[in-house]
Amino acid sequence: MKNHLLSINDLSRDEAVAILATAAELGRVSEGGQKKLPTLRGRAVVNLFFEDSTRTRISFESAAKRLSADVINFSAKGSSVSKGESLKDTAQTLQAMGADAVVIRHGASGAAQRLADSGWISASVINAGDGTHEHPTQALLDAFTIGEKFGLATYDFSGLKVGIVGDILHSRVARSNVLLLKKLGASVTLIAPPTLLPVGVEQWGVAVSYDFDAALKNLDVVMMLRIQSERMHDLFFPSAREYSRAYGLDSTRLSTLKPKAIVMHPGPMNRGLEISADSADSLQSVVLAQVTNGVLVRMSVLYHLLAGASNS
Ligand code: CP
Repeated sequence: MKNHLLSINDLSRDEAVAILATAAELGRVSEGGQKKLPTLRGRAVVNLFFEDSTRTRISFESAAKRLSADVINFSAKGSSVSKGESLKDTAQTLQAMGADAVVIRHGASGAAQRLADSGWISASVINAGDGTHEHPTQALLDAFTIGEKFGLATYDFSGLKVGIVGDILHSRVARSNVLLLKKLGASVTLIAPPTLLPVGVEQWGVAVSYDFDAALKNLDVVMMLRIQSERMHDLFFPSAREYSRAYGLDSTRLSTLKPKAIVMHPGPMNRGLEISADSADSLQSVVLAQVTNGVLVRMSVLYHLLAGASNS
């Protein structure tokens, strides 16, 4: 495995499966009562967040602590970034503090790659979401959850039909999921209005549908995406009500799902917009399992990146 995790494209299929298998093993160890492992004792993991986060930041912190690493949380708000300090100076400050891994979330696509390529730091860089580009650990935890719910212990998703629904245009979660789900053999359909599909989507190697109702009844996995209002500077649909009527997962649509189909959402959810409260809280929803599994998958990523590397 490379020194960094910036994109799902950094992982071969075997490497992705190895991360998922290690996460499963860590889950078994935890269920056996061993919640904390000494694996990364003496290592420092820095959470460098220039954008808001609840799940990703907390689960990386929890993951690092469960491997006995020291954790430094850095949020741009309240730091010297708000006084104009650059990414370079911020990164070099973290390097001087002895960071072994930097988990970065940034509003600019390519920020994690910039940090990894810069030579400013020697730490492993993990992309925790960069602009509309990628969110690789979200895709890994989603794949882990799908594997768990369908009993696919080898993560061979051949024959599994996954629909990714909603704001594909602004979604780094969709990009990383398409790359990983294809690697694992799933059949993927993107379901969205034309205005929320990126230019060049036909080159992604997945099906596209504008008709949620027609696509829905065939799906094993319904992955709803958040409408990312903060990245929308144009009018992408006539009204929230109109969007919800055509592309929201409501109780009527929920009732048409295959009995064993699962409902996913990376969070945070806009309840009442892309997903109704009863869909989010239904027995078919695995939203909370995704959060739980995020810790195991991030432990595994830290383990694969750091456990073999020298402690310098
Ligand atoms: N899924 C996800 O990235 O959530 P947060 O923004 O809360 O980290």
